[in-house]
Amino acid sequence: MQNIFFHYILYMQEKIFREIEEIRKSIQKINTKDIKEIEEFHVKYLGKKGKFSKLFKSFRKLLPYQKKQLGESINQLKKQAKEISSKLKEEKVTTFQEGILEDFTKPGISCIIGRRHPISTMKHTIINLFEAIGFITVEGPEIEDDWHNFTALNFPDHHPSRDMQDTFFIEKNPDLLLRTHTSSVQIRYMENHRPPIRILSPGRVYRNEAITARSHCMFHQIEGLYVNKGVSFTNLKQTIHYFINELFGSVRYRFRPSYFPFTEPSAEVDVYCGLESEIDRSITKGTGWLEVMGCGMVDPHVLQNVDIDPENFSGFAFGIGIERIALLLYKIEDIRFYFDNDIRFLKQF
Ligand code: PHE
Repeated sequence: MQNIFFHYILYMQEKIFREIEEIRKSIQKINTKDIKEIEEFHVKYLGKKGKFSKLFKSFRKLLPYQKKQLGESINQLKKQAKEISSKLKEEKVTTFQEGILEDFTKPGISCIIGRRHPISTMKHTIINLFEAIGFITVEGPEIEDDWHNFTALNFPDHHPSRDMQDTFFIEKNPDLLLRTHTSSVQIRYMENHRPPIRILSPGRVYRNEAITARSHCMFHQIEGLYVNKGVSFTNLKQTIHYFINELFGSVRYRFRPSYFPFTEPSAEVDVYCGLESEIDRSITKGTGWLEVMGCGMVDPHVLQNVDIDPENFSGFAFGIGIERIALLLYKIEDIRFYFDNDIRFLKQF
């Protein structure tokens, strides 16, 4: 037993001795300015699980006289490794600083910063315009139920008006759908607030449409709603006039009679783009006019559905197509560009 133990101790001593030599050789060789290599060196030798820690662990098993012999060389070596590590770090720092001093006339390292998506910029521009005249911004869910997206907005059950907007239904629950317009937020807000109401609601909407240059299954709208005592169509026209003038300057625009189940009377607003360029012709289908929003006086049935007395209150609503406005202002005729996220396109804004 004695013998085996003694052999083991001798073996350990030999092993430690060899390790010390190996470490000595390899730390003498290290010479780098790469900060990553310097860090690696530190971890490999001086870290918690580094070579020195391991060495001290086996060292504990030695006999006292051996400890005396070897302890000193291990300690010395560790000191050396520490010195090398801090010297390398210091050199690295000074060369880095010298590098800066030498090059201080050269341009700095440029970094790529992100920017707003054009649709997002457009959305904020429009919000700012309406907030300036007292509208507040609220948001609603993109997954909606039938009540908020259709029924409360005066779309009767099984009525063909529901086909105006091809809807994505949620398979597991036929009462749920992806909202086809932001008008659903009108209902959500009016259910919980009493007039006067002045809200704006931006967001994504979804329609089951083929993806082409002019239509997409997902796009953005900004809904507006004003309900108060004595609100008239004149107020609506004045608000739209303000909006178009602020955004486009003095362009020609027109109100065209239209139909929406939740407004009566209803209109669509077209802006005149002209027919000067190929792009004008293609975005306006050769007419020169581009439709940018739907609007109208809130239908009394809608007010009744949210317990607001239509005898006392009236209101107007509008729904602006953000892509449409962006199309006009940026002259980008293919809506797909906005959603492809091609960096070459996005970089231009
Ligand atoms: N929700 C309508 C649409 O998506 C737009 C609209 C909003 C019309 C508000 C009138 C009033 O086409």
